[in-house]
Amino acid sequence: MKFKTALFSGLLGLAWSLSNADPVVILDDSLGLSPVSVFNVPVPSVFEYSKLDPKESGVLPRYWEDAPPQVPHRLDKFLPVNAKSNKCLECHEEPDKIGKKVKGKPTPMSATHYLKSEAGELSVSNKRYVCTLCHAPQAGVDTLVGNTFRGDAPAR
Ligand code: HEC
Ligand code: HEC
Repeated sequence: MKFKTALFSGLLGLAWSLSNADPVVILDDSLGLSPVSVFNVPVPSVFEYSKLDPKESGVLPRYWEDAPPQVPHRLDKFLPVNAKSNKCLECHEEPDKIGKKVKGKPTPMSATHYLKSEAGELSVSNKRYVCTLCHAPQAGVDTLVGNTFRGDAPAR
């Protein structure tokens, strides 16, 4: 509160000395971009990541062609991904089924996720090993700032 008063009188003093006319009052809720007082300490709303198991999650919309699909199911049981363990691969590494999605079954990773040996064998690319770099878990959170972006992905 003391700081608030000091800021106010500081601004008042500045305005006064600059114009030497009527003092200009600047309120603390018009100083920042957010339409609330700069003295507010905003608390982000609490949210939870999906707790759905993969077999009951279904899939989420894709917003544009080639966007990394969002993870529709829980991830807490499958993380962390590290050199010793990658649970994602246990379900999603299916080089024989690329492009052959079956509803309710793990979507096979696309060809872009593999390297091909001279013998034609596919192995997971190191660049794709840490899945969560690109595939983000989802939570039902209201957006803080509206967004009118509409993707162009064909309906799946
Ligand atoms: C126990 C098996 C299992 C594990 C482990 C698993 N998933 Fe899945 N995942 C699934 C299934 C099943 C689906 C598809 C659900 C459906 O089609 O109804 C899926 C869907 C997805 C999708 C959406 C694909 C699409 O077609 O839109 C992504 C992305 C994904 N998983 C990423 C991950 C990542 C990243 C991990 C590791 C952190 C992981 N998954 C671990 C079984 C698994
Ligand atoms: C560098 C970013 C990146 C990483 C890392 C990555 N992916 Fe992807 N993934 C993508 C993008 C982009 C697409 C969509 C375009 C495509 O299919 O290549 C995709 C597509 C997919 C799909 C959908 C395939 C289809 O046929 O629709 C699955 C499933 C998937 N990724 C799983 C995984 C898993 C599991 C891992 C970790 C082993 C992983 N991804 C790592 C970027 C990434």
